[in-house]
Amino acid sequence: MNPDALSSPAEILRWYVDAGVDECIGDDPIDRFAAPAAAPAPVAAPVERVAPAVARAPLQPPTATGATAAHLASAATTVEELRAAVEAYDGCSLKQFASRTVFSDGNPQSRLMVIGEAPGEDEDRQGKPFVGVSGKLLDRMLNSIGYTRDSFYITNVMFWRPPGNRKPTAEEVALCLPFVERHIALVDPAVLLFVGGLAASTLLANPQGITKLRGRWYEFNVPGLPRPVPAMPTFHPAYLLRTPQQKRLAWRDLLAVKQKLDATQG
Ligand code: URA
Repeated sequence: MNPDALSSPAEILRWYVDAGVDECIGDDPIDRFAAPAAAPAPVAAPVERVAPAVARAPLQPPTATGATAAHLASAATTVEELRAAVEAYDGCSLKQFASRTVFSDGNPQSRLMVIGEAPGEDEDRQGKPFVGVSGKLLDRMLNSIGYTRDSFYITNVMFWRPPGNRKPTAEEVALCLPFVERHIALVDPAVLLFVGGLAASTLLANPQGITKLRGRWYEFNVPGLPRPVPAMPTFHPAYLLRTPQQKRLAWRDLLAVKQKLDATQG
Protein backbone atom coordinates (compact mmCIF):
# COMPACT_ATOMS: atom_id res chain seq x y z
CA MET A 1 0.00 0.00 0.00
CA ASN A 2 1.13 3.55 -0.73
CA PRO A 3 1.55 5.71 2.45
CA ASP A 4 0.18 8.71 0.48
CA ALA A 5 -3.17 6.88 0.26
CA LEU A 6 -3.48 6.86 4.07
CA SER A 7 -5.40 9.70 5.62
CA SER A 8 -4.50 10.06 9.31
CA PRO A 9 -1.04 10.41 10.92
CA ALA A 10 -1.85 7.33 13.04
CA GLU A 11 -2.53 5.26 9.90
CA ILE A 12 0.70 6.47 8.30
CA LEU A 13 2.65 5.62 11.46
CA ARG A 14 1.06 2.15 11.57
CA TRP A 15 2.06 1.67 7.89
CA TYR A 16 5.68 2.49 8.72
CA VAL A 17 5.71 0.15 11.76
CA ASP A 18 4.25 -2.67 9.63
CA ALA A 19 6.96 -1.99 7.04
CA GLY A 20 9.63 -2.62 9.68
CA VAL A 21 10.61 0.95 10.56
CA ASP A 22 11.59 0.71 14.22
CA GLU A 23 13.57 3.86 14.85
CA CYS A 24 13.75 7.50 13.88
CA ILE A 25 17.26 8.38 12.77
CA GLY A 26 17.07 12.01 11.80
CA ASP A 27 14.96 15.15 11.69
CA ASP A 28 15.36 15.65 7.94
CA PRO A 29 13.72 13.34 5.39
CA ILE A 30 16.00 11.17 3.25
CA ASP A 31 15.29 10.44 -0.41
CA ARG A 32 16.17 6.75 -0.51
CA PHE A 33 15.53 6.59 -4.24
CA ALA A 34 18.15 9.27 -5.06
CA ALA A 35 21.33 8.06 -6.75
CA PRO A 36 23.82 7.10 -4.02
CA ALA A 37 26.73 9.38 -3.33
CA ALA A 38 30.09 7.72 -3.89
CA ALA A 39 29.98 4.53 -1.84
CA PRO A 40 32.16 4.71 1.28
CA ALA A 41 35.15 2.41 1.22
CA PRO A 42 33.88 -0.07 3.82
CA VAL A 43 37.11 -1.97 4.26
CA ALA A 44 38.94 1.20 5.27
CA ALA A 45 36.14 2.47 7.52
CA PRO A 46 36.92 2.92 11.23
CA VAL A 47 36.90 -0.26 13.25
CA GLU A 48 35.26 -0.52 16.65
CA ARG A 49 36.65 -2.95 19.20
CA VAL A 50 34.14 -5.14 21.02
CA ALA A 51 34.81 -6.89 24.33
CA PRO A 52 33.70 -10.52 24.76
CA ALA A 53 29.98 -10.52 25.45
CA VAL A 54 30.05 -13.34 28.00
CA ALA A 55 31.80 -11.04 30.45
CA ARG A 56 28.86 -8.68 30.15
CA ALA A 57 26.11 -11.30 30.45
CA PRO A 58 24.15 -11.59 33.70
CA LEU A 59 24.82 -14.51 36.02
CA GLN A 60 23.71 -17.77 34.48
CA PRO A 61 21.23 -19.95 36.38
CA PRO A 62 22.24 -23.62 36.57
CA THR A 63 20.30 -26.25 34.63
CA ALA A 64 18.51 -29.19 36.21
CA THR A 65 21.87 -30.98 36.29
CA GLY A 66 23.52 -27.98 37.98
CA ALA A 67 25.62 -26.93 34.97
CA THR A 68 25.43 -23.43 33.54
CA ALA A 69 25.49 -22.66 29.83
CA ALA A 70 28.93 -21.12 30.34
CA HIS A 71 30.28 -24.38 31.89
CA LEU A 72 28.75 -26.56 29.20
CA ALA A 73 29.95 -24.28 26.41
CA SER A 74 33.52 -24.03 27.65
CA ALA A 75 33.74 -27.83 28.05
CA ALA A 76 33.00 -28.34 24.33
CA THR A 77 36.17 -28.75 22.30
CA THR A 78 34.57 -29.31 18.86
CA VAL A 79 31.55 -27.94 17.04
CA GLU A 80 29.86 -31.34 17.32
CA GLU A 81 30.43 -31.43 21.09
CA LEU A 82 28.95 -27.95 21.31
CA ARG A 83 25.92 -29.04 19.25
CA ALA A 84 25.40 -31.94 21.68
CA ALA A 85 25.76 -29.59 24.67
CA VAL A 86 23.18 -27.16 23.24
CA GLU A 87 20.79 -30.03 22.47
CA ALA A 88 21.13 -31.32 26.03
CA TYR A 89 20.80 -27.89 27.65
CA ASP A 90 17.51 -27.38 29.52
CA GLY A 91 18.16 -23.94 31.02
CA CYS A 92 16.30 -21.88 28.40
CA SER A 93 12.53 -22.19 28.66
CA LEU A 94 12.08 -21.53 24.93
CA LYS A 95 13.15 -25.13 24.40
CA GLN A 96 9.95 -26.51 25.87
CA PHE A 97 7.81 -24.72 23.26
CA ALA A 98 10.03 -25.56 20.27
CA SER A 99 9.80 -28.73 18.16
CA ARG A 100 13.57 -29.03 17.90
CA THR A 101 16.91 -27.37 18.51
CA VAL A 102 18.15 -25.39 15.51
CA PHE A 103 21.93 -25.35 15.77
CA SER A 104 23.60 -24.64 12.43
CA ASP A 105 23.90 -25.42 8.75
CA GLY A 106 26.62 -25.16 6.15
CA ASN A 107 30.33 -25.77 6.33
CA PRO A 108 31.95 -25.44 9.78
CA GLN A 109 35.36 -25.18 8.07
CA SER A 110 34.22 -22.00 6.29
CA ARG A 111 36.02 -18.68 6.61
CA LEU A 112 32.61 -16.94 6.65
CA MET A 113 30.29 -17.43 9.64
CA VAL A 114 26.81 -15.90 9.41
CA ILE A 115 24.80 -15.33 12.61
CA GLY A 116 21.07 -14.53 12.50
CA GLU A 117 18.40 -14.05 15.13
CA ALA A 118 16.10 -16.95 15.98
CA PRO A 119 14.49 -19.88 14.20
CA GLY A 120 11.04 -19.30 12.72
CA GLU A 121 8.34 -21.83 11.87
CA ASP A 122 10.16 -23.40 8.89
CA GLU A 123 13.44 -23.67 10.81
CA ASP A 124 11.65 -25.18 13.82
CA ARG A 125 10.12 -27.81 11.51
CA GLN A 126 13.32 -28.63 9.59
CA GLY A 127 15.92 -28.12 12.35
CA LYS A 128 18.14 -25.87 10.23
CA PRO A 129 18.61 -22.08 10.29
CA PHE A 130 17.33 -19.84 7.50
CA VAL A 131 15.40 -22.39 5.45
CA GLY A 132 12.23 -20.27 5.02
CA VAL A 133 11.48 -17.39 2.67
CA SER A 134 13.97 -14.99 4.27
CA GLY A 135 16.59 -17.75 4.25
CA LYS A 136 16.12 -18.15 0.50
CA LEU A 137 16.82 -14.43 0.04
CA LEU A 138 19.87 -14.66 2.32
CA ASP A 139 21.15 -17.60 0.24
CA ARG A 140 20.73 -15.55 -2.96
CA MET A 141 22.56 -12.59 -1.37
CA LEU A 142 25.48 -14.79 -0.32
CA ASN A 143 25.48 -16.62 -3.65
CA SER A 144 25.98 -13.24 -5.30
CA ILE A 145 29.35 -12.90 -3.54
CA GLY A 146 30.28 -16.48 -4.40
CA TYR A 147 29.17 -18.36 -1.26
CA THR A 148 26.76 -21.31 -1.00
CA ARG A 149 25.63 -23.49 1.92
CA ASP A 150 28.65 -25.67 1.15
CA SER A 151 31.03 -22.76 1.61
CA PHE A 152 29.55 -20.60 4.39
CA TYR A 153 28.49 -21.56 7.91
CA ILE A 154 25.28 -20.28 9.48
CA THR A 155 23.70 -20.20 12.93
CA ASN A 156 21.55 -17.93 15.13
CA VAL A 157 21.90 -16.23 18.51
CA MET A 158 18.87 -18.30 19.64
CA PHE A 159 18.65 -22.06 19.20
CA TRP A 160 14.91 -22.43 19.76
CA ARG A 161 11.94 -20.77 18.09
CA PRO A 162 10.24 -18.23 20.39
CA PRO A 163 6.49 -19.01 20.53
CA GLY A 164 4.61 -17.09 17.85
CA ASN A 165 7.94 -15.72 16.60
CA ARG A 166 7.96 -13.16 19.39
CA LYS A 167 11.16 -11.28 20.14
CA PRO A 168 13.31 -13.25 22.61
CA THR A 169 13.66 -11.63 26.03
CA ALA A 170 17.00 -10.22 27.19
CA GLU A 171 17.25 -13.12 29.65
CA GLU A 172 16.68 -15.76 26.97
CA VAL A 173 19.31 -14.11 24.78
CA ALA A 174 21.81 -13.97 27.67
CA LEU A 175 21.27 -17.67 28.40
CA CYS A 176 22.27 -18.67 24.86
CA LEU A 177 25.18 -16.22 24.60
CA PRO A 178 27.94 -18.45 26.08
CA PHE A 179 27.08 -21.11 23.48
CA VAL A 180 27.15 -18.57 20.65
CA GLU A 181 30.53 -17.20 21.70
CA ARG A 182 31.99 -20.69 22.07
CA HIS A 183 30.54 -21.53 18.66
CA ILE A 184 32.45 -18.60 17.13
CA ALA A 185 35.67 -19.63 18.91
CA LEU A 186 35.38 -23.25 17.70
CA VAL A 187 34.61 -22.31 14.08
CA ASP A 188 37.32 -19.62 14.15
CA PRO A 189 36.08 -17.80 11.04
CA ALA A 190 38.01 -15.12 9.13
CA VAL A 191 34.89 -12.93 8.93
CA LEU A 192 31.59 -12.74 10.83
CA LEU A 193 28.36 -11.47 9.28
CA PHE A 194 25.69 -10.49 11.83
CA VAL A 195 22.26 -10.57 10.20
CA GLY A 196 19.59 -8.37 11.77
CA GLY A 197 19.29 -6.09 14.77
CA LEU A 198 19.10 -8.76 17.46
CA ALA A 199 22.30 -10.53 16.37
CA ALA A 200 24.14 -7.24 15.90
CA SER A 201 23.11 -5.54 19.13
CA THR A 202 23.57 -8.72 21.21
CA LEU A 203 27.01 -9.62 19.92
CA LEU A 204 28.29 -6.05 19.72
CA ALA A 205 26.73 -5.21 23.11
CA ASN A 206 25.40 -2.07 21.50
CA PRO A 207 21.72 -1.16 21.87
CA GLN A 208 21.59 0.92 18.68
CA GLY A 209 19.35 -0.23 15.84
CA ILE A 210 20.68 -2.09 12.83
CA THR A 211 20.34 1.02 10.64
CA LYS A 212 23.05 2.65 12.74
CA LEU A 213 25.18 -0.44 13.36
CA ARG A 214 25.36 -1.86 9.81
CA GLY A 215 27.92 -1.09 7.17
CA ARG A 216 30.99 -0.80 9.43
CA TRP A 217 33.60 -3.20 10.64
CA TYR A 218 33.87 -4.18 14.30
CA GLU A 219 36.69 -6.17 15.90
CA PHE A 220 34.91 -8.99 17.68
CA ASN A 221 36.85 -10.45 20.60
CA VAL A 222 35.92 -13.86 21.87
CA PRO A 223 37.54 -15.98 24.61
CA GLY A 224 39.53 -18.82 23.07
CA LEU A 225 40.65 -16.90 19.99
CA PRO A 226 43.99 -15.12 20.06
CA ARG A 227 42.88 -12.33 17.72
CA PRO A 228 39.71 -10.34 17.08
CA VAL A 229 37.45 -11.41 14.20
CA PRO A 230 36.24 -8.68 11.81
CA ALA A 231 32.45 -8.50 12.08
CA MET A 232 30.01 -6.78 9.72
CA PRO A 233 26.37 -6.23 10.77
CA THR A 234 23.76 -6.01 8.02
CA PHE A 235 20.00 -5.94 7.55
CA HIS A 236 17.92 -9.05 8.15
CA PRO A 237 16.55 -10.55 4.90
CA ALA A 238 13.01 -10.50 6.36
CA TYR A 239 13.35 -6.71 6.64
CA LEU A 240 14.73 -6.52 3.09
CA LEU A 241 11.71 -8.46 1.80
CA ARG A 242 9.47 -5.79 3.32
CA THR A 243 11.74 -2.88 2.41
CA PRO A 244 13.43 -3.77 -0.87
CA GLN A 245 14.87 -0.28 -1.38
CA GLN A 246 17.32 -1.07 1.44
CA LYS A 247 18.81 -3.95 -0.56
CA ARG A 248 21.40 -1.67 -2.10
CA LEU A 249 22.84 -0.98 1.38
CA ALA A 250 22.88 -4.70 2.17
CA TRP A 251 24.65 -5.23 -1.14
CA ARG A 252 27.36 -2.77 -0.07
CA ASP A 253 27.78 -4.67 3.19
CA LEU A 254 28.18 -7.96 1.34
CA LEU A 255 30.72 -6.47 -1.06
CA ALA A 256 32.71 -5.30 1.96
CA VAL A 257 32.53 -8.83 3.38
CA LYS A 258 33.76 -10.28 0.09
CA GLN A 259 36.62 -7.76 -0.05
CA LYS A 260 37.62 -8.61 3.51
CA LEU A 261 37.53 -12.35 2.81
CA ASP A 262 39.62 -11.90 -0.35
CA ALA A 263 42.06 -9.57 1.40
CA THR A 264 42.63 -11.94 4.32
CA GLN A 265 42.96 -15.10 2.20
CA GLY A 266 46.16 -16.93 3.21
N1 URA B 1 15.42 -15.65 10.82
C1 URA B 1 16.55 -15.82 11.52
O1 URA B 1 17.12 -14.85 12.02
N2 URA B 1 17.04 -17.04 11.64
C2 URA B 1 16.48 -18.09 11.07
O2 URA B 1 17.01 -19.17 11.21
C3 URA B 1 15.32 -17.89 10.33
C4 URA B 1 14.78 -16.67 10.21
